[in-house]
Amino acid sequence: MAIEQPATRPANPRFSSGPCAKIPTFTLDKLSDAALGRSHRAAVGKDKLKAAIEGTREILGIPADYKIGIVPASDTGAVEMAMWSLLGERKAEMLAWESFGSGWVTDVVKQLKLDAEVKTAEYGEIVDLASVDCNNDVVFTWNGTTSGVRVPNGDWIADDREGLTICDATSAAFAMDLPWDKLDVTTFSWQKVLGGEAAHGMLILSPRAVERLESYTPAWPMPKIFRLTKGGKLIEGIFRGETINTPSMLAVEDYLVALDWARSVGGLQGLIGRANANTKAIADFVELHDWIDFLAHDPATVSNTSVCLKFTDERIKDGAAFAKSVAKRMEAEGAALDIGAYRDAPAGLRIWCGGTVETSDIEAMLPWLEWAFQAEIEAQA
Ligand SMILES: Cc1ncc(COP(=O)(O)O)c(C=O)c1O
Repeated sequence: MAIEQPATRPANPRFSSGPCAKIPTFTLDKLSDAALGRSHRAAVGKDKLKAAIEGTREILGIPADYKIGIVPASDTGAVEMAMWSLLGERKAEMLAWESFGSGWVTDVVKQLKLDAEVKTAEYGEIVDLASVDCNNDVVFTWNGTTSGVRVPNGDWIADDREGLTICDATSAAFAMDLPWDKLDVTTFSWQKVLGGEAAHGMLILSPRAVERLESYTPAWPMPKIFRLTKGGKLIEGIFRGETINTPSMLAVEDYLVALDWARSVGGLQGLIGRANANTKAIADFVELHDWIDFLAHDPATVSNTSVCLKFTDERIKDGAAFAKSVAKRMEAEGAALDIGAYRDAPAGLRIWCGGTVETSDIEAMLPWLEWAFQAEIEAQA
């Protein structure tokens, strides 16, 4: 007999890993102060872009001597701009343990055709971080969004490194402590932990990354959209909000509103606490049920944003079909939207736990997971 449906549903069933749930207080009226219908280079637009940059610095605790720029093409744009602008001066070491990291490997090996050491691990695992040579330029993803595996900390990054670290932190920023002294290039997009809009990427450069930009010119042509220097000097304006091309001022307003909300919940530590509480609710559920487990093998690497789960019940005949059907049942009931595993990842579920998600919604969703699991076991039989 299938178990009864739970009596209540999450108030907000949006658990997608990007674009992620908007801030809990979001309404469209909150964007009414957007600087629309005029140049982003007018004083009002420039002020807002600058506020987006400085608000990012304040909440993430980014050192005053780091540069923060708003760049085109979301996180992908920011990562590719960094790789195309900085790599090639020395050997690259590429670390990947899921789909996005693998995409950066493809860029470097197949497109830039660089001399690179590639270290990969299967979904659920992480590469041997102790073996990384930080005298190479190291490219890695802080939180692997599609496997739910994150680096536990930055201790493996040498303080006296000669290479640069290029870190895709798109599903980590605003949910995890990022050690800025270990990160030379950090990227993220607004559509992730703060529930902002896609389209714009954030590019954060350490003084050493700036030094590389000013002392090294790659051998390949650089399209305008990637150009960070002019005449061998950093284009400083980009890091004051003079964007390379036209940004969406509606998306900028939305990000400013999200930053305000982040302040209201206690800034970075408040956001980390919210993500941890969400993840703990899932961990408690996993502990109590022997048919589900984290995809991440090492508890120290379990993400507190993109939490990836696998079904472990031996009665399941076709793992991929089973997981898809569970997600479909939950979506049809309005209990959870977009929680299927990423298309390239092993079969399972992925539940976003970043700070814009309310713990009460995770708690209200989990009984539906139990219901959907039991219903699917029965349907399969
Ligand atoms: C780790 C990681 N890198 C890059 C991206 C691509 O981000 P965007 O679509 O914002 O460029 C994603 C999106 O989910 C991601 O999770």
